[in-house]
Amino acid sequence: MKDPPSAMSAAKTKMRPKGQRDASHTLHRSNSSMIRLGAQLMQQNRPQLAVNLALVLIFLVDFWLTGFNIFHSLLVKLGVIGALPQNCVPPAFSPTSPPPFAQWPLTHIYCRLIHVYNFLTSYDKDIRLHHEVFSRKPTNDWIRDWAYWDGIGHKGEWGEAYAAKDEDSRGPCPGLNVLASHGLIHVSGRKVAASKMVAAFSRAFNIAPTMALQLYSPLFPLFSERGHILDLEDIGIANIIEHDASLLRPDYHLADWEGDPKAMCRPHQDMIDRWFPAPNKHGKAKPDLTDREFAEAVCIRRTESREQNRQYSSNVVQSLIGSGSCCLMLNVFGGNVMDLREMAGSVHQDLPGIRTTASGLEYGYERIPARTIKHKKGSEGCPVVSGTHRQKWQPATGKWYFGMTIMYALWTTFNIEMRARA
Ligand code: HEM
Repeated sequence: MKDPPSAMSAAKTKMRPKGQRDASHTLHRSNSSMIRLGAQLMQQNRPQLAVNLALVLIFLVDFWLTGFNIFHSLLVKLGVIGALPQNCVPPAFSPTSPPPFAQWPLTHIYCRLIHVYNFLTSYDKDIRLHHEVFSRKPTNDWIRDWAYWDGIGHKGEWGEAYAAKDEDSRGPCPGLNVLASHGLIHVSGRKVAASKMVAAFSRAFNIAPTMALQLYSPLFPLFSERGHILDLEDIGIANIIEHDASLLRPDYHLADWEGDPKAMCRPHQDMIDRWFPAPNKHGKAKPDLTDREFAEAVCIRRTESREQNRQYSSNVVQSLIGSGSCCLMLNVFGGNVMDLREMAGSVHQDLPGIRTTASGLEYGYERIPARTIKHKKGSEGCPVVSGTHRQKWQPATGKWYFGMTIMYALWTTFNIEMRARA
């Protein structure tokens, strides 16, 4: 039977000449200016009014934090404030034992205020413990959780990493999986309170609270109904933050779901080796990656995905999320290839916990870089005698007082995105 004429003409208008792609595939060609990119972002990203207002507030605070980050060294020189603490990951604190005022004045004041608030609302340690054990949603957890911190990472001490088992929940985000590997959120990765998770990665990676909230914001409407309690695998919902053409995970529609139902949530050694290669046979590691190299990698992945993935989808928000992940690898891990290998979960035969699954495939697990460094007598930062020492990892963001702000992250992300589109 023939199609009705109206349907046929509609179909004709939808047909494109062979080889021509729709607008989302050719976005980068005609829209390579920063202003156009910004305009597209505003058009595509229109959340509810309340979220909009919250974002405006977050941006204002972020502006202030960025200003402070830029001018703090001047203020230190003028003697207005004390020197930056060498280690920006603070020691453990709580409302009753806040961090030292001299080093973390704002956190100190915040803890004191929460202490008063807890007192007025009869909230105590036991109730908090009860919430953690039973994963109940505590009242005003988004405000309270910033006043509690276990101190992991302080002085570069992260403890032994826990290798996830099959029953544990892990997501497509290596950054969040690392939190579970080191017990910053429950090692099972299940029933995680988002407020605790956000506060934890903000402290551990020295990411400004504004930026940490911004990272979670796309998931806020999704998890509101269940009180923001989630399993790590839940964040992998396709096309919210998860996107095609990422560096460390296959595209959703290209993943080997039959071979491995957790394909999107496991480290992929081939992808790790591709972008963050192991040292060559002379033991020489690739130098730190720059924004140019990340942009090139993103560009290669997008071209590949467009060619191989018939369901490839992309829009400006997803592209920016893709470059945003690179911004995190660049700013938090300093683009250091060896550190990125470990963060991404590279298999390392000498490490405990590398396991063999039923299918005989080996998987690694995401963890904080902790390599054993060999040093020669009198070498940099070392010692009088030759030997080995465990490297202590600190986030590269540690040099900024308030950590990586949204403004700074946007700057790096746009830089990578513009280069990837050029
Ligand atoms: C609430 C906060 C966060 C959420 C919801 C989130 C979510 C995600 C998701 C869904 C992906 C998968 C993208 C894909 O392959 O399609 C991802 C990738 C990634 N995330 Fe996160 N993430 C968060 C915070 C962080 C943090 C704090 C870091 C690092 C310090 C980080 C580092 C990364 C990296 C390195 C990737 C891999 C990117 C790639 O393969 O190209 N993320 N994240």
